[in-house]
Amino acid sequence: MRKPAILLVEDDISLNTLTTLELRNRGYEVETAKSGQEGCEKISQNPDIVITDLKLGDMDGMDVLSRVKKYDPRIEVIVVTGHGSIDSAVKAIKAGAFDYLTKPVDSEELELTIKKTLEHQKLIAEVENLRSEIRDKYSFSGIVYSSPKIKNILEMVNKVAKTEATVLILGESGTGKELIAHAIHEQSPRRHGSFVAINCGALPEGLLESELFGHVKGSFTGADRNKRGLFEEACEGTLFLDEISETTPALQVKLLRALQEGEIRRVGDNHPIKVSGRLIAASNKDLEQLVESGKFRDDLYYRLKVFPIEIPPLRERPEDILPLAEHFLRKAQKKISGSAKRFSPEAAAALKAYSWPGNVRELEHTVERILILASQAEIKLEDVPPEIRALRKKASLKQKN
Ligand SMILES: Nc1ncnc2c1ncn2[C@@H]1O[C@H](COP(=O)(O)OP(=O)(O)OP(=O)(O)O)[C@@H](O)[C@H]1O
Ligand SMILES: [Mg+2]
Repeated sequence: MRKPAILLVEDDISLNTLTTLELRNRGYEVETAKSGQEGCEKISQNPDIVITDLKLGDMDGMDVLSRVKKYDPRIEVIVVTGHGSIDSAVKAIKAGAFDYLTKPVDSEELELTIKKTLEHQKLIAEVENLRSEIRDKYSFSGIVYSSPKIKNILEMVNKVAKTEATVLILGESGTGKELIAHAIHEQSPRRHGSFVAINCGALPEGLLESELFGHVKGSFTGADRNKRGLFEEACEGTLFLDEISETTPALQVKLLRALQEGEIRRVGDNHPIKVSGRLIAASNKDLEQLVESGKFRDDLYYRLKVFPIEIPPLRERPEDILPLAEHFLRKAQKKISGSAKRFSPEAAAALKAYSWPGNVRELEHTVERILILASQAEIKLEDVPPEIRALRKKASLKQKN
């Protein structure tokens, strides 16, 4: 566990030294500031708590308080007032201080107040975590967006999920095709069945065929028992065929038959088996063009295309970039310890201006990388990988011309 960090702003040098020693003895990480100015500069070190005298030589403690709250409202402030100045303490509480102490500060009381403050912060953080978990859970299957384009897609998802129609999802790599396929399954009456996904580009033809349709014992070397295929596995649920463009013409014929007749044959068997799974296919290639050049069967294409959904690349919906980046930052943050980080306006602008050829997947990996490399709470432009920054420059030059 990390020690709680306290920033002590006190211009009385001997009092400052004394309190610092005491807090360190009690196991706190203490940073001290001997003036209001120094205190304000050190807020960027992200303490958990700021303890400030209200009467500082160079500035009013109230200003320190408002600077802290402006910087990060999660940092709690305890103000220290002179004896008998309850009025100013009340004012400070109204302005957002968590609590106050009166001089001379009793060390037991100081410890108690700090503990109470930390406890309060812990509760707030827990509530925030729970809230964000609930948000992720009940938001549309974890799909983050703010663009009208994705909103429209989700409306379509909602409608098509209630039907048994075959869906064809098109979009560049990393745009979220599998996520949408999953959302359709989750919104459908089949959600209690399984969602079975297979990447048609990842297996050689023979293996893919036996994966999809199953095989009977002895049908090829190594087939030492009967095996059910994914079409059968997905009977109650949804079968997701990713990279459908990578299937061979021979397999395309078999897929078409499965779709049209609702039955399949296991490899090495002539006996038809009824299948009733819902099919969703996806491709990052232009299927229509493949059909025109004779590389994809047109009858299968028309059969799959009953309900097409095209996910636009991220660069065509820049409004989604920052909500997604924030989402991935929160997600990555949960995996690693350390204090919470956030994007500076410059870093955010660079992310937004980049073209994201690898789409959402590239953004996710970039945010993870940034989080690991950034050393301060605020993610600076320098923390953004150079290739992304470079593109931003080009983009802004273009805008000027
Ligand atoms: N709108 C979104 N909200 C949250 N996460 C998203 C969103 N879109 C994509 N992702 C995430 O981005 C990553 C890539 O998405 P997914 O695997 O669905 O893309 P894909 O189009 O299937 O990519 P590929 O063509 O490379 O298979 C996943 O981790 C996914 O959860
Ligand atoms: Mg995919």
